[in-house]
Amino acid sequence: MVEVREGLQARTWSQASNEQWALRRGAQATLRRAGADDEAAVRELVEGLSRDSRYFRFLTGGRVADSIIEGLVRPDADGAALVVTVPTVDGGAEVVANGQFVVTDRDTAEFAVVVADDWQGQGLGRRLITKLQQLAQAAGVRRLRGDVLSENRRMLAILRGLGFSCRRNPEDSFLHEATLAFGAADADATASLPAGWFGAR
Ligand SMILES: CC(C)(COP(=O)(O)OP(=O)(O)OC[C@H]1O[C@@H](n2cnc3c(N)ncnc32)[C@H](O)[C@@H]1OP(=O)(O)O)[C@@H](O)C(=O)NCCC(=O)NCCS
Repeated sequence: MVEVREGLQARTWSQASNEQWALRRGAQATLRRAGADDEAAVRELVEGLSRDSRYFRFLTGGRVADSIIEGLVRPDADGAALVVTVPTVDGGAEVVANGQFVVTDRDTAEFAVVVADDWQGQGLGRRLITKLQQLAQAAGVRRLRGDVLSENRRMLAILRGLGFSCRRNPEDSFLHEATLAFGAADADATASLPAGWFGAR
């Protein structure tokens, strides 16, 4: 079991090399693996979210607990955590999006993403989810799943467009369950994708 876990992690991270993305409004963004150093910047991203965005992502309009922020940048052994940054005028970098998945059992990875309000609608969310999908496939899980608030039309539209099946949770009508099942053929195809296969939309 230990070997399996180590194998999953190695394959996951070998796919997560930095990528440069040209955004619709012209900015150049960098996708990279998140780390403990990003905790403060991700806290800032979360604190800056509108009430709606915060609610859609964390199901709360209040302060997001430190333990949750920690999980956004430091996933468990089999998971992946990513951030997207853009350059700031002072030569630094601002985290404008975050996404991650955790492997909840040997077959399933559970994911979530968030994009800063000012940076929404430029293709970042879709690309981030596509990247998580690629990494989860490479990690060898059979499916990627997420809980989405039923009123989150944008997220559900993106996920359906990416091939997820989205159905209302029979036990909680406020939630939809989004699931993408991977076939063996998909995993082989993903493993052979070249680095930087994302093109500008
Ligand atoms: C949901 C979210 C991740 C999407 O990221 P994004 O960068 O804004 O989305 P993208 O720009 O990649 O894609 C937007 C797409 O949604 C579509 N869209 C926008 N609003 C929509 C709506 N109300 N209904 C249906 N589709 C909608 C757009 O047409 C666009 O499609 P296009 O690329 O074909 O033009 C982002 O808006 C976000 O962080 N929201 C708050 C947190 C959240 O909901 N997280 C998900 C929790 S499960």
